[in-house]
Amino acid sequence: MSESLYIPVGTSKEEKYLSLLPQIEALITDEEDLVANLANISAALKEAFGFFWVGFYLVKGEELVLGPFQGPIACTRIGFGKGVCGTAWEEGKTQLVPDVDAFPGHIACSSASKSEIVVPVIKNNEVVMVLDVDSDQLNDFDETDQKHLEKLMQFLEGKI
Ligand code: SME
Repeated sequence: MSESLYIPVGTSKEEKYLSLLPQIEALITDEEDLVANLANISAALKEAFGFFWVGFYLVKGEELVLGPFQGPIACTRIGFGKGVCGTAWEEGKTQLVPDVDAFPGHIACSSASKSEIVVPVIKNNEVVMVLDVDSDQLNDFDETDQKHLEKLMQFLEGKI
């Protein structure tokens, strides 16, 4: 397994994802340890796209608890239905938030975060964790991010 990523420069976001996703899948495919895989997924997305914050919150009892991430320190616990992450947990659906200030109940771990996408990871019809990606730019995520990040989380679902 290679421990460096090839990230094409000067290409579209779509092409970056098309190059990156098989590399991430190769990186995690032979590794069974969940923390190791979540850590490498976070690092790869951060390295490829320079997102402000990338990481996972894991369902533990009645709360989401902070897992592996890349970026500034963050809130450690989020309740069911709270914030963007808790809403993705409650609805079992991706939350695409172009302006976090316009999302009722958004939890501001950092005032620098301006837009956000949260993708749930579902096992046996239950959300078991969420991927949270934050940007310091407004309107930084779109259907391209949603499509590829959901595909990546589906690959992860097959491993857990
Ligand atoms: N903004 C998130 C909280 C997590 S941080 O952004 C890392 C939310 O509203 O759920």
